[in-house]
Amino acid sequence: MARSTTKSAQEPVAPSRADAARAVAEPGDWLSCALEHHDHIRAAFEAARKAPPGGARIAAMKGLAVVLNGHALAEEVVLYPALVALDAAEDAQTAYAEQTEAKIQMAELERLSPASPDWAAQLEQIETAVLAHMEQEEGSWFLEIKESYPDQAKLTARYREEFERYTRTGIIATNGA
Ligand SMILES: [Fe+2]
Repeated sequence: MARSTTKSAQEPVAPSRADAARAVAEPGDWLSCALEHHDHIRAAFEAARKAPPGGARIAAMKGLAVVLNGHALAEEVVLYPALVALDAAEDAQTAYAEQTEAKIQMAELERLSPASPDWAAQLEQIETAVLAHMEQEEGSWFLEIKESYPDQAKLTARYREEFERYTRTGIIATNGA
């Protein structure tokens, strides 16, 4: 079958909202760390999706849970309170609620047999919700914090501290380091 190669290739590519967050991130700051963790989470979901039924799925799920929980807790303790301080309490409440739901759904995944089709369906449901949540963060909430929160250095120090507190042991295993 002939492939159409002309129109889309010639059109300028609109920068995504995620690109906006990457454009303002600075090396080592909380935003670059959070974006890196988002990439890690996306890769962990992919690894879990590709894992064959059985023990490999359990290992992949545990790797996903470490980075997902460590990242979520650092956001909940450091970044979402910054949103509240910026008079965006409603956005913060949405963010907290979405991450609480993700934790509930991950617990449900843990209860399912890794050999069952339900496991893959549950994982897909969680991935869809988490990817949408991360898009909101990268396209809106993170930008607001980066642009308006007065003490960026404090956010960076505290974000890194909270993430590392949770992942100090587990992240090493999930990275294969
Ligand atoms: Fe996030």
